[in-house]
Amino acid sequence: MSAVLEVKSLSKRFGGLVATNDVSFKTEPGEIVGLIGPNGAGKSTLFNLITGTIRPSSGRVEFHGKDITGCSPEQVAQRGLIRTFQSATVFKDKTVRENLRIGMQFNRLGGPLQLLDRSRVRVFRRDSERIANELLEFVALEPYASRPAGELPYGAQKTLGVAMALAAEPKQLLMDEPAAGLNPVETEQMGHLIERIRSEHHIDVVLVEHDMAMVTSICDRIIVINRGEIIAAGTPEEIQRHPEVIEAYLGVNLELD
Ligand SMILES: Nc1ncnc2c1ncn2[C@@H]1O[C@H](COP(=O)(O)OP(=O)(O)OP(=O)(O)O)[C@@H](O)[C@H]1O
Ligand SMILES: [Mg+2]
Repeated sequence: MSAVLEVKSLSKRFGGLVATNDVSFKTEPGEIVGLIGPNGAGKSTLFNLITGTIRPSSGRVEFHGKDITGCSPEQVAQRGLIRTFQSATVFKDKTVRENLRIGMQFNRLGGPLQLLDRSRVRVFRRDSERIANELLEFVALEPYASRPAGELPYGAQKTLGVAMALAAEPKQLLMDEPAAGLNPVETEQMGHLIERIRSEHHIDVVLVEHDMAMVTSICDRIIVINRGEIIAAGTPEEIQRHPEVIEAYLGVNLELD
């Protein structure tokens, strides 16, 4: 089976600091892959490198066999690789429905030139209404549809962030700490949502997360990074027994039960 995402010897230096050091990994179709590691390990930096927010010092990123190294975030998104952010990133003054429409515009309307094509805009308006309704139902945010996103509880704002990412029609979702700031009940709901994104939308997922209960219950495979390097990779069971992983996390609440 050919890889979905392939990272080859990726490195990033910020001045004297090596934030990412020779990182290589692949994800396979249908997988939920967890990326874990202590604070400052370089997890978000890896997402930034993959999605074009920052350029690598060296190495290569391929998505469905195509080289995307050095592509802009917009180009990466248009190829179907979409990320969500560590904190809720919604347009607080816009309604939930408007936020979903913003998410859709990523790859439905294409570039600014296509905005001039009126028939295309008309089709988009009709489609966007239907797709917004489907997404609202999928993430159970219908009661909030007409409310400004900023009025939603934090957990619902994070769910909206996920729905906005889905609106962009991803082939693969990179989720940066979807459970951060959520209470235990919301965390469990977010875990179920991610599983349904895979099973019902057939979207591959890479997930950065500190909540180990969630990671071990929904991930097929876990990659551990520490100080910018991969120190272990394997099934959740293998990772929990791995001596280097336990050592890297000493002093950090692993929440293993
Ligand atoms: N733009 C930047 N310029 C300089 N240093 C940076 C930059 N971005 C990240 N770093 C540094 O790179 C290292 C890795 O940071 P990163 O945010 O990737 O960690 P993380 O694993 O996501 O941590 P957390 O779990 O706290 O979110 C840190 O030492 C951080 O200070
Ligand atoms: Mg981070």
